[in-house]
Amino acid sequence: MSQGLGPTSGRVVEFGPGTGALTRGILAAGVAPADITLFEMSPDFVTHLRQTLPGVTIHSAAAQLAPNLVPKGVARVISGLPLLSMPSGLRHAIVKAGFDILAPDGVFSQFTYGPNLPISPDVMADLGLSVRKGPKVWLNLPPARVYHFYRA
Ligand SMILES: C[S@@+](CC[C@H](N)C(=O)[O-])C[C@H]1O[C@@H](n2cnc3c(N)ncnc32)[C@H](O)[C@@H]1O
Repeated sequence: MSQGLGPTSGRVVEFGPGTGALTRGILAAGVAPADITLFEMSPDFVTHLRQTLPGVTIHSAAAQLAPNLVPKGVARVISGLPLLSMPSGLRHAIVKAGFDILAPDGVFSQFTYGPNLPISPDVMADLGLSVRKGPKVWLNLPPARVYHFYRA
C-alpha cells in the first residue's frame, strides 16, 4: 500500500487506520509524520493512534468528511476501509471524498481480499476513474491484493 511513497512524495491521507498498521508502513517508507492525516471513526482506536503516532494529524471523524478538513492537493489516499461491505451510497461518498482532496494526479490505494475490484464499476464510471492492479500479497493473512485508482 505504501509502495512509491517517500520523504518527497507529498501529503498522505489514510481512511480507517484502525490500529495503525498501514500508518506504520507509510512512516517506514519515509513520509514525515507532519505529512500524514488519519480519519478514524472508532474513539478507542483514535486514543490508541494518538498515543502511538506522535506528529501525525488524527481526526476522530468519518472519511467522507475529509474535504471539510483537509486542503486539496493530497498525493495519496490509502484506505483500510472494507469498502465492498458498505452500502453503495456510503461507498460512493467515501471514494468521492478521497478524489475531492487528491491532486489531479493523486492516487487512491485500496486493498481487497476478494476477486472483485474493491471500488465497484458504477462508482468508477461515475467518478471517471481508471485502475492499476498492484501485487497480490501472499504473506498477508488472508492474502490480499492492492489496487491503485486514479483519474482517467
Ligand atoms: C478493517 S479496519 C482497518 C484495519 C487497519 N488497517 C489495522 O491494521 O488495524 C477498518 C477501520 O475503519 C474504521 N472505519 C469504518 N468506517 C469508517 C469511516 N467511514 N471513516 C473512517 N473510519 C472508518 C473502523 O473503525 C476500523 O478501525
